Amino acid sequence: MPKPKQPRRRAPLVAEPIPVPSPGQRRFYGQGVPNIDVSLLSGRLIVVEGADGSGRSTQIARLVRWLEARGHATTQVGLKRSMLVAEELDAAKGGNILSHTTMSLFYATDFADQLENTILPALRAGFMVLADRYIYTLMARDLVRGMDEAWLRNLYGIALVPDAVFYLRVSPEQLVQRTFAKKHVLDYWESGMDLGLSRDMFDSFLKYQGMIAETFQRLQGIYDFEIIDGDRPAEEVSGELQQKIEAVLRGSVGGT
Ligand SMILES: Nc1ncnc2c1ncn2[C@@H]1O[C@H](COP(=O)(O)OP(=O)(O)O)[C@@H](O)[C@H]1O
Ligand SMILES: [Mg+2]
Repeated sequence: MPKPKQPRRRAPLVAEPIPVPSPGQRRFYGQGVPNIDVSLLSGRLIVVEGADGSGRSTQIARLVRWLEARGHATTQVGLKRSMLVAEELDAAKGGNILSHTTMSLFYATDFADQLENTILPALRAGFMVLADRYIYTLMARDLVRGMDEAWLRNLYGIALVPDAVFYLRVSPEQLVQRTFAKKHVLDYWESGMDLGLSRDMFDSFLKYQGMIAETFQRLQGIYDFEIIDGDRPAEEVSGELQQKIEAVLRGSVGGT
Protein backbone atom coordinates (compact mmCIF):
# COMPACT_ATOMS: atom_id res chain seq x y z
CA MET A 1 0.00 0.00 0.00
CA PRO A 2 1.34 3.41 -0.86
CA LYS A 3 2.24 5.46 2.09
CA PRO A 4 -0.07 8.37 2.79
CA LYS A 5 1.43 11.51 1.40
CA GLN A 6 3.24 13.50 3.99
CA PRO A 7 2.52 17.19 3.91
CA ARG A 8 5.51 18.82 2.37
CA ARG A 9 7.62 20.68 4.85
CA ARG A 10 8.03 24.27 4.00
CA ALA A 11 10.86 26.41 5.06
CA PRO A 12 9.49 28.85 7.62
CA LEU A 13 8.76 32.21 6.03
CA VAL A 14 10.29 34.07 8.92
CA ALA A 15 13.74 33.21 10.11
CA GLU A 16 14.17 32.21 13.73
CA PRO A 17 14.23 35.35 15.84
CA ILE A 18 17.71 36.32 16.92
CA PRO A 19 17.79 36.38 20.69
CA VAL A 20 18.33 39.93 21.91
CA PRO A 21 18.63 40.99 25.53
CA SER A 22 15.19 42.10 26.59
CA PRO A 23 14.89 45.83 26.99
CA GLY A 24 14.23 46.89 30.51
CA GLN A 25 17.15 45.05 31.96
CA ARG A 26 19.45 47.13 34.05
CA ARG A 27 23.10 46.56 33.42
CA PHE A 28 26.54 48.03 33.72
CA TYR A 29 28.66 48.65 30.64
CA GLY A 30 31.33 46.29 31.90
CA GLN A 31 32.42 44.94 35.24
CA GLY A 32 30.21 47.44 37.11
CA VAL A 33 30.18 47.98 40.84
CA PRO A 34 30.49 44.79 42.90
CA ASN A 35 27.69 43.63 45.18
CA ILE A 36 24.97 45.73 43.60
CA ASP A 37 21.68 44.06 42.77
CA VAL A 38 20.71 46.03 39.68
CA SER A 39 17.16 44.69 39.75
CA LEU A 40 16.55 46.86 42.83
CA LEU A 41 17.39 50.10 41.02
CA SER A 42 13.88 51.31 40.33
CA GLY A 43 14.62 54.97 39.60
CA ARG A 44 15.64 56.35 36.22
CA LEU A 45 19.01 57.67 35.14
CA ILE A 46 18.77 60.43 32.54
CA VAL A 47 21.98 61.87 31.09
CA VAL A 48 22.29 65.23 29.36
CA GLU A 49 25.49 65.57 27.35
CA GLY A 50 26.77 68.43 25.26
CA ALA A 51 29.58 70.94 24.94
CA ASP A 52 30.20 73.86 27.27
CA GLY A 53 27.40 76.34 26.59
CA SER A 54 25.13 73.79 24.90
CA GLY A 55 22.42 74.45 27.49
CA ARG A 56 22.77 71.43 29.77
CA SER A 57 22.34 73.38 33.03
CA THR A 58 19.41 75.29 31.56
CA GLN A 59 17.67 72.10 30.45
CA ILE A 60 18.36 70.18 33.65
CA ALA A 61 16.93 73.02 35.76
CA ARG A 62 13.78 72.99 33.61
CA LEU A 63 13.51 69.20 33.80
CA VAL A 64 13.86 69.23 37.59
CA ARG A 65 11.01 71.76 37.90
CA TRP A 66 8.85 69.74 35.51
CA LEU A 67 9.56 66.38 37.15
CA GLU A 68 9.09 67.63 40.70
CA ALA A 69 5.81 69.29 39.77
CA ARG A 70 4.69 65.83 38.67
CA GLY A 71 5.67 64.33 42.02
CA HIS A 72 9.02 62.74 41.14
CA ALA A 73 11.92 63.03 43.54
CA THR A 74 15.05 64.11 41.70
CA THR A 75 18.76 64.31 42.34
CA GLN A 76 21.57 65.68 40.22
CA VAL A 77 25.12 64.62 39.49
CA GLY A 78 27.81 66.00 37.23
CA LEU A 79 31.53 65.99 36.64
CA LYS A 80 33.85 67.18 39.40
CA ARG A 81 31.11 67.12 42.00
CA SER A 82 32.34 64.33 44.25
CA MET A 83 33.15 65.29 47.82
CA LEU A 84 36.18 63.07 47.55
CA VAL A 85 38.29 64.63 44.81
CA ALA A 86 36.52 67.67 43.29
CA GLU A 87 38.81 70.20 45.00
CA GLU A 88 41.97 68.25 44.27
CA LEU A 89 40.91 67.87 40.65
CA ASP A 90 40.49 71.63 40.31
CA ALA A 91 43.91 72.17 41.81
CA ALA A 92 45.45 69.67 39.40
CA LYS A 93 43.81 71.33 36.40
CA GLY A 94 45.00 74.73 37.54
CA GLY A 95 48.58 73.53 37.70
CA ASN A 96 48.51 71.66 34.36
CA ILE A 97 50.94 69.18 35.84
CA LEU A 98 49.31 65.77 35.60
CA SER A 99 49.82 63.36 32.73
CA HIS A 100 46.76 62.41 30.68
CA THR A 101 46.56 59.01 32.33
CA THR A 102 46.70 60.42 35.85
CA MET A 103 44.11 63.05 34.97
CA SER A 104 41.82 60.36 33.49
CA LEU A 105 42.08 58.30 36.63
CA PHE A 106 41.33 61.39 38.71
CA TYR A 107 38.14 61.99 36.73
CA ALA A 108 37.29 58.29 36.89
CA THR A 109 37.64 58.45 40.69
CA ASP A 110 35.31 61.45 40.81
CA PHE A 111 32.84 59.51 38.67
CA ALA A 112 33.10 56.29 40.68
CA ASP A 113 32.54 58.16 43.93
CA GLN A 114 29.36 59.79 42.65
CA LEU A 115 28.18 56.51 41.14
CA GLU A 116 28.54 54.60 44.40
CA ASN A 117 27.49 57.29 46.80
CA THR A 118 24.84 59.24 44.91
CA ILE A 119 23.60 57.60 41.71
CA LEU A 120 23.10 54.02 42.90
CA PRO A 121 21.51 54.88 46.29
CA ALA A 122 19.18 57.42 44.62
CA LEU A 123 18.11 54.89 41.98
CA ARG A 124 17.48 52.33 44.69
CA ALA A 125 15.21 54.87 46.39
CA GLY A 126 13.29 55.37 43.14
CA PHE A 127 14.65 58.83 42.32
CA MET A 128 15.01 60.40 38.91
CA VAL A 129 18.74 61.02 38.62
CA LEU A 130 19.73 63.79 36.21
CA ALA A 131 23.36 63.66 35.15
CA ASP A 132 24.96 66.79 33.73
CA ARG A 133 27.45 64.85 31.58
CA TYR A 134 28.53 61.24 32.10
CA ILE A 135 31.34 58.96 30.98
CA TYR A 136 30.99 59.96 27.31
CA THR A 137 32.43 63.46 27.79
CA LEU A 138 35.27 61.97 29.79
CA MET A 139 35.98 59.44 27.07
CA ALA A 140 35.69 62.02 24.26
CA ARG A 141 38.13 64.37 25.98
CA ASP A 142 40.64 61.55 26.44
CA LEU A 143 40.18 60.16 22.95
CA VAL A 144 41.00 63.48 21.27
CA ARG A 145 44.16 63.47 23.40
CA GLY A 146 45.16 60.15 21.88
CA MET A 147 44.34 57.80 24.73
CA ASP A 148 43.62 54.15 24.08
CA GLU A 149 39.95 53.45 23.46
CA ALA A 150 39.97 49.88 24.77
CA TRP A 151 41.61 51.08 27.99
CA LEU A 152 38.96 53.78 28.43
CA ARG A 153 36.07 51.42 27.72
CA ASN A 154 37.44 49.07 30.30
CA LEU A 155 37.94 51.88 32.83
CA TYR A 156 34.35 53.08 32.41
CA GLY A 157 32.96 49.55 32.45
CA ILE A 158 32.10 50.52 36.01
CA ALA A 159 29.31 52.80 34.72
CA LEU A 160 25.63 51.94 34.81
CA VAL A 161 23.87 52.06 31.44
CA PRO A 162 21.50 55.05 31.66
CA ASP A 163 17.81 54.93 30.79
CA ALA A 164 18.33 57.71 28.26
CA VAL A 165 21.21 59.83 26.99
CA PHE A 166 20.42 63.13 25.30
CA TYR A 167 23.19 64.89 23.43
CA LEU A 168 22.51 68.58 22.89
CA ARG A 169 24.05 69.37 19.54
CA VAL A 170 24.81 73.06 19.14
CA SER A 171 26.86 74.67 16.36
CA PRO A 172 30.33 75.87 17.42
CA GLU A 173 29.40 79.47 16.54
CA GLN A 174 26.38 79.35 18.87
CA LEU A 175 28.55 77.81 21.58
CA VAL A 176 31.02 80.68 21.40
CA GLN A 177 28.23 83.26 21.50
CA ARG A 178 26.52 81.65 24.48
CA THR A 179 29.74 81.11 26.41
CA PHE A 180 30.81 84.72 25.88
CA ALA A 181 27.38 86.00 26.87
CA LYS A 182 27.56 83.97 30.09
CA LYS A 183 31.20 84.13 31.19
CA HIS A 184 32.89 86.69 28.92
CA VAL A 185 35.87 84.35 28.57
CA LEU A 186 36.56 80.97 27.01
CA ASP A 187 37.74 78.20 29.30
CA TYR A 188 41.34 76.98 28.83
CA TRP A 189 40.42 73.27 28.88
CA GLU A 190 37.14 73.61 26.96
CA SER A 191 39.19 75.35 24.26
CA GLY A 192 41.68 72.45 24.19
CA MET A 193 44.56 74.87 24.77
CA ASP A 194 46.68 72.03 26.21
CA LEU A 195 46.68 70.42 22.75
CA GLY A 196 48.53 73.24 21.03
CA LEU A 197 46.00 73.46 18.18
CA SER A 198 46.42 77.21 17.91
CA ARG A 199 47.82 80.00 20.02
CA ASP A 200 44.60 81.90 19.45
CA MET A 201 42.08 80.69 22.03
CA PHE A 202 39.06 81.43 19.88
CA ASP A 203 40.51 79.48 16.96
CA SER A 204 41.51 76.66 19.30
CA PHE A 205 38.01 76.55 20.84
CA LEU A 206 36.40 76.07 17.41
CA LYS A 207 38.91 73.38 16.39
CA TYR A 208 38.72 71.55 19.70
CA GLN A 209 34.91 71.59 19.90
CA GLY A 210 34.83 70.30 16.31
CA MET A 211 37.10 67.38 17.32
CA ILE A 212 34.96 66.62 20.36
CA ALA A 213 31.77 66.71 18.27
CA GLU A 214 33.30 64.25 15.79
CA THR A 215 34.31 61.94 18.62
CA PHE A 216 30.80 62.08 20.04
CA GLN A 217 29.46 61.11 16.65
CA ARG A 218 31.72 58.08 16.67
CA LEU A 219 30.79 57.18 20.25
CA GLN A 220 27.16 57.34 19.23
CA GLY A 221 27.74 54.20 17.19
CA ILE A 222 28.74 52.35 20.36
CA TYR A 223 26.56 53.97 23.01
CA ASP A 224 22.99 54.89 22.37
CA PHE A 225 22.55 58.70 22.32
CA GLU A 226 19.54 60.63 21.21
CA ILE A 227 20.76 63.69 19.39
CA ILE A 228 18.74 66.79 20.21
CA ASP A 229 18.98 69.94 18.11
CA GLY A 230 20.12 72.39 20.78
CA ASP A 231 20.27 75.42 18.47
CA ARG A 232 16.57 76.04 19.06
CA PRO A 233 15.06 78.19 21.82
CA ALA A 234 15.29 76.62 25.30
CA GLU A 235 11.51 76.02 25.55
CA GLU A 236 11.48 74.02 22.34
CA VAL A 237 14.38 71.88 23.48
CA SER A 238 12.65 71.26 26.83
CA GLY A 239 9.44 70.30 25.06
CA GLU A 240 11.23 67.59 23.11
CA LEU A 241 13.13 66.35 26.17
CA GLN A 242 9.92 66.12 28.20
CA GLN A 243 8.22 64.10 25.50
CA LYS A 244 11.13 61.68 25.33
CA ILE A 245 11.39 61.38 29.12
CA GLU A 246 7.69 60.64 29.37
CA ALA A 247 8.33 57.63 27.17
CA VAL A 248 11.20 56.60 29.46
CA LEU A 249 8.91 56.86 32.49
CA ARG A 250 6.26 54.73 30.82
CA GLY A 251 8.77 52.10 29.71
CA SER A 252 10.72 49.66 31.79
CA VAL A 253 14.01 50.48 33.49
CA GLY A 254 17.33 50.36 31.72
CA GLY A 255 15.77 51.10 28.34
CA THR A 256 19.01 52.24 26.65
N1 LIG B 1 18.37 77.12 23.81
C1 LIG B 1 19.08 78.22 24.13
N2 LIG B 1 19.11 79.28 23.31
C2 LIG B 1 19.85 80.37 23.61
N3 LIG B 1 20.59 80.52 24.72
C3 LIG B 1 20.61 79.50 25.58
C4 LIG B 1 19.87 78.29 25.34
N4 LIG B 1 20.07 77.44 26.36
C5 LIG B 1 20.92 78.07 27.22
N5 LIG B 1 21.23 79.31 26.76
C6 LIG B 1 22.14 80.29 27.40
O1 LIG B 1 23.46 79.89 27.03
C7 LIG B 1 24.33 80.00 28.17
C8 LIG B 1 24.90 78.61 28.49
O2 LIG B 1 23.85 77.76 28.95
P1 LIG B 1 24.08 76.69 30.09
O3 LIG B 1 22.75 76.06 30.35
O4 LIG B 1 24.79 77.29 31.24
O5 LIG B 1 25.03 75.68 29.29
P2 LIG B 1 25.98 74.48 29.83
O6 LIG B 1 25.49 74.11 31.19
O7 LIG B 1 25.77 73.41 28.80
O8 LIG B 1 27.37 75.00 29.80
C9 LIG B 1 23.49 80.58 29.30
O9 LIG B 1 23.72 81.96 29.35
C10 LIG B 1 22.06 80.25 28.90
O10 LIG B 1 21.15 81.22 29.39
MG1 LIG C 1 26.45 73.99 33.03
